[in-house]
Amino acid sequence: MKITASLVKPNESNADALIIAAYSDEKFNSIMQDVDKLLGGQISKLHKSKDFKASSAEVLTLFSDKGQRIVLVGLGKKDKCDLGTLQNATTKAIKALVSTPAKSVSNYMTSLEFHNTDNATACKIIALAASHAAYRYEATKNFKADNIHNIDSMDIYAAEKHTTDVKQAAAIAEGVKTTRELGNLPPNICNPKYLAKKAKNISKQYEHCSLTVLNHKEMETLKMGSLMAVARGSRNKPKMIILKYKGANKSQKPHVLVGKGITFDTGGISLKPGANMDEMKYDMCGAATVIGTFVAVAEMQLPINLIIIVPAVENMPDGDAYRPGDVVTSYSGKTIEVLNTDAEGRMILCDALTYAQEFEPQVLIDLATLTGACVVALGHVASAVMSKETQLPQDILAAGIDIHDRAWQLPLWDDYQKQIDTTFADMQNVGGFAGGSITAGCFLSRFCEDVNWAHIDIAGTAWNSKKEGATGRPVAMMAQYLINESLK
Ligand code: BES
Ligand code: MN
Ligand code: ZN
Repeated sequence: MKITASLVKPNESNADALIIAAYSDEKFNSIMQDVDKLLGGQISKLHKSKDFKASSAEVLTLFSDKGQRIVLVGLGKKDKCDLGTLQNATTKAIKALVSTPAKSVSNYMTSLEFHNTDNATACKIIALAASHAAYRYEATKNFKADNIHNIDSMDIYAAEKHTTDVKQAAAIAEGVKTTRELGNLPPNICNPKYLAKKAKNISKQYEHCSLTVLNHKEMETLKMGSLMAVARGSRNKPKMIILKYKGANKSQKPHVLVGKGITFDTGGISLKPGANMDEMKYDMCGAATVIGTFVAVAEMQLPINLIIIVPAVENMPDGDAYRPGDVVTSYSGKTIEVLNTDAEGRMILCDALTYAQEFEPQVLIDLATLTGACVVALGHVASAVMSKETQLPQDILAAGIDIHDRAWQLPLWDDYQKQIDTTFADMQNVGGFAGGSITAGCFLSRFCEDVNWAHIDIAGTAWNSKKEGATGRPVAMMAQYLINESLK
């Protein structure tokens, strides 16, 4: 969906559908009044008769003489209307259109005044929610031609001073879409080689990009023993993808994002139960998130230097697979006792994080669907941020609040570290039941001792139910974080 800013009035819009919003406890604004006139007073009649109360996320579609769909959407009480309300209402309005032949939309929700936010933020939230609701996975599905009605474009009613915000939202939406598509693709297609190819395409598509891909031989030579241990069980050879964007002077140290790219996680020899194992195709959503964030940044051409690093590996059981009890030497030289081959994410991330520090990042952040325990702790609402720093996690959380893609911090106190100590190596790869997300963070922290680093566990947020699939979270939070950084 192409998103643009516009100041075209409803009676001048040629879009197939107009979305108009109202509060339940306020008079219609001038845009709604105009449309009401256009429809001969229908809307005020419906409002008076309580057929349209404008309660939160209530949607009613009318038809104009011009043949345009007029989607009325309620936002409930003005002082209760927050970013979540805007998100839900937008989703409902767009969902009311996705099964119709409407291809273009003019969205007037942003003509309202908001009590809990400003119009700039409202533009972003509404644009992102609309693009999200209009997305449909098609890659491996046959549709009957007359059943495909995609919404191709949306004008969002925005004053001149908010065009930058709309452009940013459009860029972020593009990133989110990229991430969702990668997440949703099946593991027989989206394997390490595919991710490398995708990175190649992106590096060609945008200005100021360059790409390096390390193959398994190169990683073997570099002695990335932890990553290579996980990779051994699969016929799909691993790749280390390094995608760079140079939007600022060379002297400006890069922001480096590392994304877990397990393209399928069987658990390895510590095999997962069969039920829902297919969902482990989403185990590359950390990778998909950093790729999507990269797309957003490259679309915006932000004045920062960004490097994303994706260790792309498949975790399979095999005669040559790594086993519980093995001790492996990581790229850092630290040794790891493998107690569970299903704790593979941290095994590939530690080598990628060590490698990342060679680029002397000003900020290093990894994103990973790392632990089931994270879903238990925070559900599907908040991503988990862990860090030993003070400012960095605060900045990440703040960006999440800005764009309504929220995270919550878990402690990474030294008190937890002893859970991964062992007699047989420098550390073991699991910390037991208690604080499972935190001990995974502790493991990673041992490889990020002298760098401004944070870890984000997205196991609960990166995908939803099977029907909904990949959510594209937390691309918006990360892109907003980098926007904020670019303004520092
Ligand atoms: N990819 C999983 C984490 C996961 C599980 C994400 C369920 C989303 C939903 C990860 O590789 C894993 O298997 N983690 C183990 C760690 C354990 C062996 C210490 C887990 O969470 O059970
Ligand atoms: Mn696993
Ligand atoms: Zn995993």
